[in-house]
Amino acid sequence: MNIKPIVAGNWKMYKTLSEGVSFVGNIRKRILDKEKVKVIFCPPFNSLFSIVETLDGTSFGVGAQNAHHESQGAFTGEISVEMLKSMGVQYVIIGHSERRHIFGESDTWVNRKIHAVLDGGLIPIFCIGESLEDRQKNQTMEILHRQIKMGLDGLDFIDPEKIIIAYEPVWAIGTGETATRDQVAEAHESVKSILCEMFDEQSSSVPILYGGSVNEKNATELIETEGVDGFLIGGASLKEDSFCSIIAQVTTNYKG
Ligand code: PGA
Repeated sequence: MNIKPIVAGNWKMYKTLSEGVSFVGNIRKRILDKEKVKVIFCPPFNSLFSIVETLDGTSFGVGAQNAHHESQGAFTGEISVEMLKSMGVQYVIIGHSERRHIFGESDTWVNRKIHAVLDGGLIPIFCIGESLEDRQKNQTMEILHRQIKMGLDGLDFIDPEKIIIAYEPVWAIGTGETATRDQVAEAHESVKSILCEMFDEQSSSVPILYGGSVNEKNATELIETEGVDGFLIGGASLKEDSFCSIIAQVTTNYKG
């Protein structure tokens, strides 16, 4: 299946409201070939509403970086899928390694959140990935298997247009170290086969993004790697020039 590649920028806890709005306003003017790549901005919660407004009428997507699985309640500091939806948000990053490792989110929490996002009609960007220790112990595939099985537990099917998976080796996030083409290809292939084992054939079309120190220097090589359908980008998504350069490289080099 010929799918559109995806480039998602995860801003983490960077950019104030005015910085975020002016950033997307500038990118909106710069990216010309919007038809070939789906570009998604994932700013912090405070800027979501204004960024959705700034991008109104364009094909750019807007995503949140987290959501709580309950629809409402006494959960100080949390936000629900319904609240995100009411702001016009379409995507939610779930299970990012910083959520898992700094905030202690377990596979069970990730699973609840995936259900909540899907039930609410938004698209989860479901993150998985092994730590350096897992890789050194040769446990990468086992970890991916567990994260996918537990994360998607309880779903009868997955619609490739309604879920995105991001393979992000923890040791490559924000470190400047990227996985090699072989490591990425192997991991993406395993993700596909785990999905096919759990669901029907259709699930082999679920887009699988790579994340972990993607930048303007390695983007072409990575997007040409078998099984890579786009990127989830942290650091390099915060600067206009690097983000636009990566989008342009994906536009030109993605083979589908
Ligand atoms: P990085 O972050 O591109 O800065 O490595 C990726 C991510 O955290 O999604």
